[in-house]
Amino acid sequence: MKTFVVLLLLLLTLFITALHVSASSDDAWSNIEKQRLDTGGLSRDSFPEGFVFGTAASAYQVEGMASKEGRGPSIWDVFVKVPGNIVKNATGEVSVDQYHRYKEDVDLMHKLNFDAYRFSISWSRIFPNGKGKVNWKGVAYYNRLINSMLEKGITPYANLYHYDLPLALQEKYGGLLGDQVVKDFADYADFCFKTFGDRVKNWMTFNEPRVVAALGFDNGINPPNRCSKPFGNCTAGNSATEPYIAAHNLILSHAEAAKRYREKYQPKQKGRIGILLDFVWYEPLTRGKADNYAAQRARDFHVGWFLHPLVYGEYPRTMQEIVGERLPKFSKSDVKTVKNSFDFIGINQYTSYYMYDPHQPKPNVTGYQQDWNVGFAYERTKDPIGRRAYSQWLYEVPWGMYKAVTYIKERYGNPNVILAENGMDDPGNVTFPDALYDRERVNYYRSYLKELKRAMDDGANVTGYFAWSLLDNFEWLLGYSSRFGIVYVDFKTLKRYPKMSAYWFKQMLERKKH
Ligand code: GAL
Repeated sequence: MKTFVVLLLLLLTLFITALHVSASSDDAWSNIEKQRLDTGGLSRDSFPEGFVFGTAASAYQVEGMASKEGRGPSIWDVFVKVPGNIVKNATGEVSVDQYHRYKEDVDLMHKLNFDAYRFSISWSRIFPNGKGKVNWKGVAYYNRLINSMLEKGITPYANLYHYDLPLALQEKYGGLLGDQVVKDFADYADFCFKTFGDRVKNWMTFNEPRVVAALGFDNGINPPNRCSKPFGNCTAGNSATEPYIAAHNLILSHAEAAKRYREKYQPKQKGRIGILLDFVWYEPLTRGKADNYAAQRARDFHVGWFLHPLVYGEYPRTMQEIVGERLPKFSKSDVKTVKNSFDFIGINQYTSYYMYDPHQPKPNVTGYQQDWNVGFAYERTKDPIGRRAYSQWLYEVPWGMYKAVTYIKERYGNPNVILAENGMDDPGNVTFPDALYDRERVNYYRSYLKELKRAMDDGANVTGYFAWSLLDNFEWLLGYSSRFGIVYVDFKTLKRYPKMSAYWFKQMLERKKH
């Protein structure tokens, strides 16, 4: 009897606590929604007619069902399973389960007044072995997702590759190091254009090929974890050559897919195709010549590595000189497919660093990062470049947005740019519901968007903006210890709670009633 009473009391306390937690979080939620937030003068009207606002995410980071419904493994699936690779050994096996909760998520986008969603298609969910047999359950999932977006008036922006190479191709021919990948990627892309292109009009081939090449083959911290001994903890690799080979194959794969799209599908489907490039702004530390050159080298080795071939048909001169024979060459026919192989360029812009000339003799071990021959700084005469977010690489530098976008405009003939990712993270263990009051994120978005607008007012041809990300999600090496969402996710219940920044967007993006 005594134990029964104790048990009953315990249950009652648990019930009351649960009630309290849900009541207080719901209160917090509706309190935020009612507040009028400072948009800093920004509204839809601050941007040109037709300017698109959306959020971005990627398949492995949000879908879950990673080894279910016929999906084949990607190079990330094996990597996350090795203990110690990811914070708390987290995986994307379940993540935020968008595979089942896509309707709720698309609904949220709609309620928050967004126009578009940039998602990615998991190659190995469509082709479990990278090529050959199709997994029709995967195809059905993307059909459901796309159709639900269209029902809610959310425009789909589909990216074909977000770090997740099918493992089968890695094992078969070394993945991005094998030139067979060019045809396999183009075939996969072709299948997606054919299958989804009646409804998807905005295509992207690769997300951040620079990150793929550098983190996968120079320091080897991301799969397939290849590097030279001095640069990381890899069992094999060559940081002097492999990043350049992987990047070359990425460029050729992009170009081949774009060619297929333009020749076979674009005339009928009337969509457009682009690529997503990450771009950190590099500001010279001092006004000296050497630091200016260092910053320029950094920009060339970063965004120029991909954008220069796409616009001008060759790698930046600085890279050609420094990398020499290790840099693959484009044949005459490659140049034909590569040059101008885009309708728009997606730029992922988060942060900026100072660059200086290290005045060091050439190092005797060679690698991609060594080739830059620069020093990184995060403060100038003791003034930090910006507040650091949770991720150690992410400093908040709004003026870097202006400079990055303006640089693309001036150096690359003012192409059509979509600002395809921008955002900041909080630590994963923030307490709830305090986490919903993400004032710093509101500041971040407001200040960066103002700078984006300034660049556009000065002539930059930017036609869209995507926040990273709608939901807290699987943040690669950091697992769930970093939260980038404008919507908080309780990783136990998978319940979604919009943060203040979500309501900030909702208010900023309000549509005028006519
Ligand atoms: C980008 C990447 C995303 C996301 C974000 C925040 O570089 O495309 O997948 O993780 O960074 O780190």
